[in-house]
Amino acid sequence: MILDIPKSDNGCKTRLLVIFVALLLISFTHTATATTITPYSPEIDILNASSTMGGNLLNKSSSSIVSINAVKVWQENGEFTRKLKKGSKGNDVKVLQIILKSLTDDKTRGPITNYFGTKTEAKLRIVQSKLNLPITGELDLETRTALNNLIYKELCPTAMRVIGQDNFVESDFDKVFENLNRSKAVPLDYIPQDLVRVSEKIKTVGVMCVSNRIVRHLDEMIADAKKQKLDIAITSSYRSADMQKFLYSMWINKSGASAKAGIAEAGHSEHQLGTTIDVSGKSISYAGVSPKFAKSKEGKWMAQNSYKYGFIMSYPDKKQKETGYIYEPWHFRYIGVDNANDIFTEKMTIQEFLNFSTATTTNPTSTSSTTDLATSTPNYATTSTSTILISI
Ligand code: DAL
Ligand code: ZN
Repeated sequence: MILDIPKSDNGCKTRLLVIFVALLLISFTHTATATTITPYSPEIDILNASSTMGGNLLNKSSSSIVSINAVKVWQENGEFTRKLKKGSKGNDVKVLQIILKSLTDDKTRGPITNYFGTKTEAKLRIVQSKLNLPITGELDLETRTALNNLIYKELCPTAMRVIGQDNFVESDFDKVFENLNRSKAVPLDYIPQDLVRVSEKIKTVGVMCVSNRIVRHLDEMIADAKKQKLDIAITSSYRSADMQKFLYSMWINKSGASAKAGIAEAGHSEHQLGTTIDVSGKSISYAGVSPKFAKSKEGKWMAQNSYKYGFIMSYPDKKQKETGYIYEPWHFRYIGVDNANDIFTEKMTIQEFLNFSTATTTNPTSTSSTTDLATSTPNYATTSTSTILISI
């Protein structure tokens, strides 16, 4: 545009000079504001990087930046906590190599070992460059913070939709009472708006996050168990639909079609709600999804006491016909303290309880199924969805 102005046009030259000075001033003010007001944060760099960079990081078939497999490996092993460089050895080197493999292309592929060699260094440099980090070839503090943040965001994403915007209303967000089962699902892009990392008071096997609304109850339950000399750990918590899809395929590949009895399809898992946890105990070495948990002292305590804190075992023994899933003595969903008390006392499943509540709310006068359930569970004659919401 500037080159189009004829040299003899003095008026234009003056205007051009004024525009140029103005642009300089704007650019200077902008830079000054950015450097003085915005503190340095690797997290901010990552956000900028992922929104502007093309290439491998965004050209994945999945919407994730890091592959789900790599996210899962990182989650299970915990975040990077030490400096890694050429010559380093250990399991964390292996985890780093899996992450780097997921973030770079085929040409830079190297073996996954637990040794940090030349190829790992080369790949780390590529990733550092893509993420606008200082290219050191070492997993220094800045790089490991950036990678930890990047992967944590994949594991525990922030909901993009905000209540009140774009016709997004509270009921779209509040899925705490969603009656999930084999046929009912939440949208695959549903993300609870209040995911937080599980409190430090609670032992976890890997990195875990849950809906903030259950943290207080979780803390209290685990602390009370501890008073009884019982050590309980969380082995699974919030799972995105992508993660659930990955686990579903993984279990079917591993154990065949029979695995379907114990795993929900993406969108159908209570874990996507952020209010559901899998637990294990020290006496069985914190083994996850282990049938041994039922007979362990921690498992017995959870079965008898979790309701006091609002948690109910979603898939109890001998209820497969009703729930659609095999006995899962480790899987507990938060449903509110009063509701859990009612469910436990009446020996119902969460699904029966939520079905009943919906039925009484949508047609409070009478339906045959409501009447049947009300007859067998007289205390529910007054239950309604509004009662449920208040008691959470
Ligand atoms: N294991 C339970 C059913 C789930 O996948 O959510
Ligand atoms: Zn579970």
